[in-house]
Amino acid sequence: MPKHKFVLNGKSVSVDVDDDVRLLWVLRDLLKVTGPKYGCGLDVCKACTSHINGKAFNPCSVRVKDIKPTDHITTIEGLPATVGKDLHPMQEAWLEMDVPQCGYCQPGQIMAAVAKVKQARREGHEIRESDLDEIRNICRCGTYHRIRDAIAAGAKHM
Ligand code: FES
Ligand code: FES
Repeated sequence: MPKHKFVLNGKSVSVDVDDDVRLLWVLRDLLKVTGPKYGCGLDVCKACTSHINGKAFNPCSVRVKDIKPTDHITTIEGLPATVGKDLHPMQEAWLEMDVPQCGYCQPGQIMAAVAKVKQARREGHEIRESDLDEIRNICRCGTYHRIRDAIAAGAKHM
């Protein structure tokens, strides 16, 4: 089987797997990195949200062959290391605001939140209500109000 290489949470990884296997299954089933959740597998629910080279993406919708050896994939497991702490400021805000209910969507929500704050800053502004409206991660428990409050709080410490 073809070998695929990329950087996962700061470490080079190599997997033997068919080209067309979606990255989410490579992460979860082969590499045992289960923070990115399987919700729909169709790029709709966003439960699997992770980062590629610092930007949000959904690994359920990307074939492993489309990932380059130089691509840096970050999952919720690797998020604290990006700031050199035990927890990322966004995770601390999540804890302070007691955001999760069942918790299933929450890794994806946090990864989407961090990417959105960074995107806003690249565009030269702080995160706005209209930016929050663009986050499409589904929470079937309806924790949206707490998520929005936590993103505002977390952004202040990023
Ligand atoms: S599992 Fe990836 S978007 Fe739903
Ligand atoms: S906390 Fe249950 S799906 Fe979001």
